[in-house]
Amino acid sequence: MKKFASKTSVAVVGLGYVGLPTALAIAEAGVKVTGIDINKKRVNQLNGGKSFIAEIPDETVKRMLKNFRATTDWKAIKKCNVVLITVPTPLNKNKAPDTSFIENAAKKIYPHIKRGVIVVLESTTYPGTTEELLLPILERSGLKAGRDFYLAFAPERIDPGNKQFKFTDIPKVVGGINKISTDKTAAFYQLYLKKVHPVSSARTAEMTKLLENIFRLVNISLVNELKMLADKMDIDFWEVIEAAKTKPYGFTPFYPGPGVGGHCIPLDPFYLSWKARELNFFTRFIDLAGEINELMPHHVATKVIWALNNKKKAVRGAKILALGVAYKKDIDDPRESPAVEVIKDLVKKGANVRYNDPFIPQINVSGKTFRSVPLNKKALKSADCVLVLTDHSIYDYKMIARTAKLIIDTRGAIKARKPSIIT
Ligand SMILES: NC(=O)c1ccc[n+]([C@@H]2O[C@H](COP(=O)([O-])OP(=O)(O)OC[C@H]3O[C@@H](n4cnc5c(N)ncnc54)[C@H](O)[C@@H]3O)[C@@H](O)[C@H]2O)c1
Repeated sequence: MKKFASKTSVAVVGLGYVGLPTALAIAEAGVKVTGIDINKKRVNQLNGGKSFIAEIPDETVKRMLKNFRATTDWKAIKKCNVVLITVPTPLNKNKAPDTSFIENAAKKIYPHIKRGVIVVLESTTYPGTTEELLLPILERSGLKAGRDFYLAFAPERIDPGNKQFKFTDIPKVVGGINKISTDKTAAFYQLYLKKVHPVSSARTAEMTKLLENIFRLVNISLVNELKMLADKMDIDFWEVIEAAKTKPYGFTPFYPGPGVGGHCIPLDPFYLSWKARELNFFTRFIDLAGEINELMPHHVATKVIWALNNKKKAVRGAKILALGVAYKKDIDDPRESPAVEVIKDLVKKGANVRYNDPFIPQINVSGKTFRSVPLNKKALKSADCVLVLTDHSIYDYKMIARTAKLIIDTRGAIKARKPSIIT
């Protein structure tokens, strides 16, 4: 790793699941980082050495304070020569891209940028965003992009909960609006990341990130559809995947579940579908995968209803204990979690649902607050149905399998096979 020039100073705009680890990695490389966020509470929390992400301990934030400060004051941009934008890119209620976070950030950034600054968008978005949306706002500064300041897209690929890959080991794809923007941005990332992969344009980099996420959405939806068929055929689909995995080439395992969640995979692909329509192009794979994904929570709820029915029990009034509400294992993020949709559906049908999640103390479902209940033998025994929605590693699945009278395991976390366990 090269040394940061002592005058390098970086602003990270948006201190969330991406912005905080990014700021951390840069601070740990010994460079000054200013985190800018509109959330005052989060800013104060971080300056007080407190993390809001379970897998980042307070000690790490405290250590990082040597080189890091958070602020809500946009003037901090003035003393920075690199600005990384890591704000959210959700969908609006009509499933169209909501780029307002990028636009709002850009409007606050441009009055403070100076000659020579590198501005990089890291938020996932449709091809064209950097040039069509961000560039014109930043040029209101009177500076010309690609000449007076440098502009690039470099998607973040962090995988929360994944302990196998260190943040700095994940290669960074970089695409500038022109060659010099790519070169300058790539040189910056090379200061603290092991590998940088420059591409020919910002649009190529934007499309690269979408390909990665669409690949996951389509494949997860595919296995979910095949799992539904395998159920009808009375074939254990988990066993099928384990068998297919023995093929040494040409097969990548994906696993069924209650649907895809998080701030990326269920949303980002629709940024591309939306953009494609501008060209009269319909992204059928994405739409089909999205449709299957939307169906999954209701499929799980139906499975619960059938399993209870076989026990001569109506769903109305049935005691259901849901295990895990995070969108995937070992993390504390419930955004777009299919678990929430499953619970919503069951509550609507009159079930008495409680949940446990060691990482998420409370959730809101249809305007009602649910609090995580302790997971013990009493809770397991008293439930008419235990529903595994997120396969957190911390759970004692053997004990769960021994104790609960009926289990629906949507994640294949319980290896035992007996009639009281339905996957
Ligand atoms: N979460 C992931 O695993 C992940 C992985 C790769 C890429 N991404 C992408 O990274 C981007 C950020 O995602 P995230 O999960 O970190 O989001 P997040 O919601 O966790 O964090 C975003 C932060 O930005 C702040 N913010 C919002 N508007 C702002 C503004 N105008 N100015 C300054 N700060 C603002 C919010 O207060 C919040 O702290 C998204 O485009 C997402 O698709 C996320």
